[in-house]
Amino acid sequence: MGFATTAIHSGQEPEATTGAVTVPIYQTSTYAQEGLGKHKGYGKHKGYEYARTQNPTRAALEKNLAALEGAKYGFAFASGMAAIDATLRLVKAGEHVVVSDNTYGGTFRLFSRVLTNYNLEFDFVDTSNVLNVEAAIKPNTRMVFLETPTNPVMIVTDLRAVSEVAHRAGARVVCDNTFMSPYLQRPLEFGVDIVVHSTTKYLNGHSDGIGGVVVLNNEEDAAWIGFIQNSAGAILSPFDSWLVMRGTKTLALRMEQHDKSGRAVAAFLEEHPRVKKVYYPGSAAHPQHALASRQQRGFGGMVAFDVGSLAAARTVLESVRLCTLAESLGGVETLISHPATMTHASVDRHKREQLGITDGLVRISVGLEDTEDIIGDIDQALSRI
Ligand SMILES: Cc1ncc(COP(=O)(O)O)c(C=O)c1O
Repeated sequence: MGFATTAIHSGQEPEATTGAVTVPIYQTSTYAQEGLGKHKGYGKHKGYEYARTQNPTRAALEKNLAALEGAKYGFAFASGMAAIDATLRLVKAGEHVVVSDNTYGGTFRLFSRVLTNYNLEFDFVDTSNVLNVEAAIKPNTRMVFLETPTNPVMIVTDLRAVSEVAHRAGARVVCDNTFMSPYLQRPLEFGVDIVVHSTTKYLNGHSDGIGGVVVLNNEEDAAWIGFIQNSAGAILSPFDSWLVMRGTKTLALRMEQHDKSGRAVAAFLEEHPRVKKVYYPGSAAHPQHALASRQQRGFGGMVAFDVGSLAAARTVLESVRLCTLAESLGGVETLISHPATMTHASVDRHKREQLGITDGLVRISVGLEDTEDIIGDIDQALSRI
């Protein structure tokens, strides 16, 4: 089956009682039991006892998302951060994790400020050079955690090369695939072991819910993630699960358009005299354009550009009329943001500047409005600098 067919049908069988074509929102906290130790069961499934542990709406979404990434198992969580936190429970006290140094600020915060208190060790390196990963691996390294392309400066990591190095050292590889969605990049095909997403972004796609997912193939690790999901309890609600399922049905179409408009916006910015630099892996000038072209099916709708100063960035951000000044990404509406003071404010200034997250950097999540309207709005805002 092709991607769009899988997105529409996997986990989405008509409901057994009425034939409803849409998976119902099973808004229940518990399930009646026939007698002690005897469950009534539901459809083909048996053993629904309590809705933190099992919920048919969530199960349908988990099956859907696992299929989209080409994985056997999926677990949906209350947020992307909850999914990442659950994944890190595969690592034990005294063990070490190598992480992409330009990872999402919330991931950096969880690793460096929370999990270090439990004696987990982290090294943040530029994973776009596989030699850095190799050099950072220690005898107690059990995980390599990647983001590609990174937020917001779009650094690309070679998933196959890093997976080979990590596996030789007996470490699992995790990839946060939020920026690409499984339509544009399927990390498991390059040897990655576990994929995490903030479903809040492209998978939901409509900016109306927070959620996360972990998908993987290894049975033992999957059993542990499932155990953590139930034990710690940061599950995705039935309604939010349903919203993400509604989102994935149009994921292929939406990503095609995000990609088309993303390329057009990047090309427009590259020619603009007020723009000093554009960060977009789809651009031939991007240092890893060839790798991105091999590893990704497209380049998506995330574009960052530098206008040289905080004053110029402020002018752009405060002059847009169609684009909305907001954090987040991956929704139908175009969002524009200022990483240095918004998403990456928790990263220290020196590190930010080293990564290219200057005061003049502006990030756009190119939405699904007409491409010429998006470009027209950015053009009029740039003209005010
Ligand atoms: C790449 C990436 N990973 C993870 C997250 C965290 O997801 P959530 O906000 O759903 O917890 C985000 C949120 O912006 C993100 O951009």
